Amino acid sequence: MSATEFGALRIAPSILSADFGYLGAAIGMISDQIEWLHVDVMDGHFVPNITIGPPVVKSLRKHSDLFFDCHLMISEPWKYLEDFKKAGADSCTFHVEVGQTEETIKLARELGLRVGLSLNPDKPFELVEPYLDQVDVLLVMSVFPGFGGQSFIPGVLDTVRKARVAVESKKLQMDIEIDGGIDLNTLPLALEAGANVLVAGNAIFGQDDPAAALRALQDSLVV
Ligand code: DX5
Ligand code: ZN
Repeated sequence: MSATEFGALRIAPSILSADFGYLGAAIGMISDQIEWLHVDVMDGHFVPNITIGPPVVKSLRKHSDLFFDCHLMISEPWKYLEDFKKAGADSCTFHVEVGQTEETIKLARELGLRVGLSLNPDKPFELVEPYLDQVDVLLVMSVFPGFGGQSFIPGVLDTVRKARVAVESKKLQMDIEIDGGIDLNTLPLALEAGANVLVAGNAIFGQDDPAAALRALQDSLVV
């Protein structure tokens, strides 16, 4: 499998739960097991937390060839897409809630990024439906974005199911990613609903042995 193969089942570890003082080492512990690394970017405005931005992506890029799946939880993603591209992002996912969706998709494409669109757990599938044939990934939030280690919200599985029906019926080239509260208990639910990329932060980097925790999640990726 390659990092750009649509529909491949994969775990995308989120570095949000890693020790930011040892990010390179944390990624090194698991990098031979994965293709995608989920990078959570927060601006303290769209979400009530601040994390990292293009300078950190640039530093990580020097030490890693992984596919950087950048999740932009920020109010004005269009202002920063070029910086993320230059820093080494492979994919940028932004939220439908921030508006200017069509224009931002177009800009990301022009920059040569893979494009993702996300929606919060309280938003209906219909909000993203018009854009599905324009994006590479739909990122369904299964917690309210801002913090790692929160509990999975099962209500979003309905959105995942609808997205899977759309992908199959319209033969879309699109991944369905789910993000928040994924662990050994919730992973099968997300998988059964039709998600194929599963983000996990606390269930990997919050564990004593991240590599073993990741392996256990990967082992349960069976449909
Ligand atoms: C939440 C982030 C998630 C988070 C997931 O706002 O977008 O990517 O890191 O972490 P866990 O797996 O701990 O819920
Ligand atoms: Zn995320």
